[in-house]
Amino acid sequence: MELSQLKVIVTGGARGMGAHFATRLHAAGAQVVAADVDAEGLAALPKGIHTRTCNIALEAECEALVSWAHAQMGGLNGLINNAGIIRDGLVIRENRETGELAKFDSKAWQSVLDVNLSGAFYMVREFAYTLAQHKIKPGVIVNMSSVARHGNRGQSNYVATKAAMAANTVTWAREFAKYGIRVGAIAPGMVETPMTQGMNQKARDALVAAIPVGRIGVPEDLWLAVKFVLECDYFNARTIDVDGGLVM
Ligand SMILES: NC(=O)c1ccc[n+]([C@@H]2O[C@H](COP(=O)([O-])OP(=O)(O)OC[C@H]3O[C@@H](n4cnc5c(N)ncnc54)[C@H](O)[C@@H]3O)[C@@H](O)[C@H]2O)c1
Repeated sequence: MELSQLKVIVTGGARGMGAHFATRLHAAGAQVVAADVDAEGLAALPKGIHTRTCNIALEAECEALVSWAHAQMGGLNGLINNAGIIRDGLVIRENRETGELAKFDSKAWQSVLDVNLSGAFYMVREFAYTLAQHKIKPGVIVNMSSVARHGNRGQSNYVATKAAMAANTVTWAREFAKYGIRVGAIAPGMVETPMTQGMNQKARDALVAAIPVGRIGVPEDLWLAVKFVLECDYFNARTIDVDGGLVM
């Protein structure tokens, strides 16, 4: 699909990769709705990008967002399913001094599932429903997975959601083929955004040292992959790793 033909929602569009994708899409002539819980970040986006605060973990807010976006842009044919959070921790942890064992907090487990898994699902469901209902074809969805989907110490919750995003990219591509909707996924390695800027410095340095291209990724590296998925009408049901060769 040509970028200038897109009427697209970008979740998590207030900062990091989502803000970069929204800005690039807008510059390419697409109509863009950026949605996020961060109203301040949304207000700082370039003029002309439609913005709406939305917590994707809440079903009703996703329903309202998608129907608002459809009305606002006079149609809808793209979704960048990008919003995501991390709440890292080992499943069980031993206190170094006392040897006492602690369990990973189930609220931290659930919060990541609520946003990265349920939120992404609600967005996909509302998007596909709207396109099918209004008989809009073609459509395209880009899911944000992660290299962490292969398994990563201290990220049980995040790994589970990002593996699900890659697997369901196949599920949804098969389910939505009859509605003319393609589904692709991007799996970033480590990218310079507020998400990774909040990481423990030692863990961050160790990860960067393991990247064969010798540097952390930047949002533009990922935009090139998102652009490919949007533009290439023969790309479907697959996940592209954009990680500088990092193996976790
Ligand atoms: N940065 C990385 O190294 C990296 C690596 C692999 C995958 N990813 C994935 O890429 C995507 C973007 O990551 P990023 O690094 O730009 O993150 P980020 O934390 O910089 O930005 C994420 C955005 O999502 C928004 N958000 C969080 N919860 C939300 C909710 N419930 N409803 C709506 N918006 C919400 C945040 O407010 C924020 O603006 C995420 O899905 C992330 O898991 C990131």
